[in-house]
Amino acid sequence: MQEELNQPAVTPYELIGGDAAIRKLVDRFYQLMEELPEAYTARKIHPADLTESGNKFFDFLSGWLGGPQRFVEKYGHPMLRRRHMPFPIGPEERDQWLMCMKMALEEVVENVSLRDFLYAQFVQIGESMRNRGENLQGCCH
Ligand code: HEM
Repeated sequence: MQEELNQPAVTPYELIGGDAAIRKLVDRFYQLMEELPEAYTARKIHPADLTESGNKFFDFLSGWLGGPQRFVEKYGHPMLRRRHMPFPIGPEERDQWLMCMKMALEEVVENVSLRDFLYAQFVQIGESMRNRGENLQGCCH
């Protein structure tokens, strides 16, 4: 029992495969967004060059999954909802973003429970990024 308590908890960051797996997920995610015509509405609200978007998303995911807190160290509190406010995100943009993420997760994350868990989290956060359309959440950060 004591030994179990002393075991450090395994983080999603470790489970997914650390930096290399996160980088693969991010690269594949933006590649799909770039290539799929059915993701064009989401693609076109992003910068022409997705390199920095990928780097920032990598930094964010690293900390969010329980690894190094790179995003917070570089840019401060994520305040994700506020950072997405300049971009029109309605149901279509949300669904296209989620579609790319679902496909990227299926290719990159072999552990099905981890994959399903991560996708469910993205669905929730994705909905809270929405700033167009009906029944918007009142939250401001
Ligand atoms: C609902 C669908 C979403 C859309 C359409 C969307 C779109 C965008 C856009 C247009 C940007 C700014 C350009 C850029 O830096 O790439 C951005 C930034 C970012 N997004 Fe999203 N996003 C969505 C969901 C999410 C989710 C679910 C997360 C995290 C789990 C996330 C994390 C980030 C981060 C960390 C940044 C960089 C923020 C910054 O420092 O400016 N996004 N997103």
